[in-house]
Amino acid sequence: MQQQGAAALTPATGLGSRPSLTVKTSRVCTTAALPPLCRCGRRHLIGSTTATALLPLLALPSPAASPVDPEVMLERVHPARPEWYEKFYATAMDKFMKPYEAEIAQYKSKLFSQLMTAGKNILELGVGTGPNLKYYANADGVNIVGVDPNKHMEEYARAAAVSAGLPPSNFTFRRGVGEALPAEDNSMDAVVGTLVMCSVSDVEMALREIKRVLKPGGLYIFIEHVAAPDGSFLRFVQGALNPLQQFVSDGCHLTRETGEIIREAGFSSLDLNTTRLSTAFILSPHVYGVACK
Ligand SMILES: C[S@@+](CC[C@H](N)C(=O)[O-])C[C@H]1O[C@@H](n2cnc3c(N)ncnc32)[C@H](O)[C@@H]1O
Repeated sequence: MQQQGAAALTPATGLGSRPSLTVKTSRVCTTAALPPLCRCGRRHLIGSTTATALLPLLALPSPAASPVDPEVMLERVHPARPEWYEKFYATAMDKFMKPYEAEIAQYKSKLFSQLMTAGKNILELGVGTGPNLKYYANADGVNIVGVDPNKHMEEYARAAAVSAGLPPSNFTFRRGVGEALPAEDNSMDAVVGTLVMCSVSDVEMALREIKRVLKPGGLYIFIEHVAAPDGSFLRFVQGALNPLQQFVSDGCHLTRETGEIIREAGFSSLDLNTTRLSTAFILSPHVYGVACK
């Protein structure tokens, strides 16, 4: 059952969030001369029809294409950044997210408790420094694959897995991206992703990959920051800061409508909720929930 509209967004997660916001329908550009508006609210040359025709080598694969080799996709959408930058970003995520993690903890506890019975094979997309592992890495016999393009996340994620009580042999770190997950079809009981759809190059492609690797009935558990409502002051600020944010936060977009994209991704059921967090500043509002393949 796919829930539709704000009235249907009962937080099955029971988190007592503020009233859910209705995610807007996507904007469609009918002007032939311009590339269509992206869900991030901007026009991008690459990916537009004209540019795709002119620059075939840079175009991402079409939805109908077979999954691309994960290593090839990694180099295509997230080639290694300068060493100092990747290291700085990993250290910053480890040091500065603590107030946010304290506030989001009640949501994570409820959401990730569903992993206790989901099955043994879990993939975390954009695992980063591993702040989610303490919520589910202690489940009996669980095997976790943490995927992230930034190799400097590995030492933090490994330490987080160990301190959550996971035997080192049950945690694998794979350098990779959501656009081509390094996992077999129908192999995962659950996929976790928090604050990562803001950073992938193509949200729809990453969602298709999540569905590909999930077993039938497998769960996708997510928490993502999304664009503030159109016309709000916050939305204006997000638009203005978007380029800077992408530079300092490794490609993070402030104005994506990820909730709507998840809603349209074709999961068999979806529990989608919206909330605001005081520690998230421009990274508000958030959508969170569970989708079932
Ligand atoms: C804001 S951090 C969030 C990390 C972690 N999930 C958390 O909640 O703290 C975004 C993460 O996504 C990773 N990332 C960036 N581009 C990605 C992509 N295309 N696919 C998967 N992960 C990506 C970054 O390296 C970074 O670890």
